[in-house]
Amino acid sequence: MSVKITYHGHSTFTIDSDGKLLVIDPFFTGNPKARVKAGDVRADFILVSHGHGDHVGDAVDLARRTGALVICNNEIAGWLRSKGLQQVHGLHIGGGFQFPFGRCKMTIAHHGSALPDGSNGGNPGGFLLKLNNGKTLYFSGDTALTYDMKWLADDHVDVAMLCIGDNFTMGPDDAIKAVKLIEPKVVIPCHYGTWPLIDVDAEDFQARCQHETASTCVLMHASDTYDVA
Ligand code: NI
Ligand code: MN
Repeated sequence: MSVKITYHGHSTFTIDSDGKLLVIDPFFTGNPKARVKAGDVRADFILVSHGHGDHVGDAVDLARRTGALVICNNEIAGWLRSKGLQQVHGLHIGGGFQFPFGRCKMTIAHHGSALPDGSNGGNPGGFLLKLNNGKTLYFSGDTALTYDMKWLADDHVDVAMLCIGDNFTMGPDDAIKAVKLIEPKVVIPCHYGTWPLIDVDAEDFQARCQHETASTCVLMHASDTYDVA
């Protein structure tokens, strides 16, 4: 029974849940922080939170090469099918489905979702993952702070991966409020420091989690792995 979360910079994570490999927002090519090449990534499932290029990233090529099932909203699912991918599962916000690794529910995100070629990417989302081994993970996607996050406290989130980079998403002040609403055991901040526009003081955010919330903040550098206890 093990869950290992590896960060690749920006909003890209790989999760190994009892040997099932999930890749969230596979942005490797062009990601200045990523230390692995897209061509070396393995995946059984690829989760795409919204249509923006820094989240769809290498999804098409990665899915083609690995045969992984792509989980995303229905509009992005249609766009991926139009690119010839067959292994695609469309969800919509509020809806979940039981996959071989566990249940994945798409959560609310306040953001945009246009696809790189200008196609309609539907609404942006995040993911609540209830893994078969009992661990619960929340990935916020790109979002503003929303009071709906308070519902997530009911899910007893073990690890929340939250955007903190400001400008396009929550900044540190709002992310602290999000932590107070969600009450996860552990927070892993993301979507910061990739470019100057979203540079924030992550150490200060970590210290504020310590002093202002009941959650532990784990700062990760690209290719660091965190074992979910
Ligand atoms: Ni975005
Ligand atoms: Mn983004």
